Amino acid sequence: MCNTTVSEDETESLPVKASQRIAANMAVLETVVIAFWAMLPAYVPNNAAVLGGGGRPIDGGRTLGDARLLGDGKTWRGTAAGITAGLVLAGVLTVFADDVSSVLGFAVPAFEPLAALGLAAGAMLGDVLASFLKRRTGRQRGAMFPGLDQLDFVVVSLPLTALLATEWFFTWFTWDVILVVVVLTPILHVTTNMIAYKLGLKNEPW
Ligand code: CTP
Ligand code: MG
Repeated sequence: MCNTTVSEDETESLPVKASQRIAANMAVLETVVIAFWAMLPAYVPNNAAVLGGGGRPIDGGRTLGDARLLGDGKTWRGTAAGITAGLVLAGVLTVFADDVSSVLGFAVPAFEPLAALGLAAGAMLGDVLASFLKRRTGRQRGAMFPGLDQLDFVVVSLPLTALLATEWFFTWFTWDVILVVVVLTPILHVTTNMIAYKLGLKNEPW
């Protein structure tokens, strides 16, 4: 009698466990897709700056102590190209957000204008601040700064977006999404920079 009950429970619990595992995996996949989608307007500016960069440096050649304020690697044109690319991409993603959401079966974010601005301009600002720190620590243009190189734009774009579009930010950037962003970003950054280097678009692979 007792044995029968136990074995019935066991046969029932197997498919339940399997479906729970599938649900958990789906939740992780959803988080990764949302994190990637939400960060795209912050990811693309750095690459667009490489393509559109050149011309007058932001610091106009000024120095602070022995080193340049920012260096020749931070130009007005590159910065404008980066912010524009981020804003345009946010616009395109917003147009497709509803359709993509219904295909995927879960919602991906449409970007409010201020959220798009926070992500795109924050990414460029983070990059500029990173160069400022590199010059203050004696690093020449193009020198690597592991950690800072990979996360500079996250560190500035997320708080700036939280400031400019608070409700939007906290709707989409839940703690698990932020965790995925912090893990995923360095991986994507290293990969895309390596590709840009191999294609001859970038002078260094970082
Ligand atoms: N770029 C630009 N303006 C920016 C960012 C980048 O013009 N705001 C262009 C520059 O041509 C730069 C290239 O993109 O050389 C690569 O960017 P990055 O690696 O950020 O600059 P570095 O040249 O490595 O300079 P730094 O050491 O200051 O990061
Ligand atoms: Mg560099």
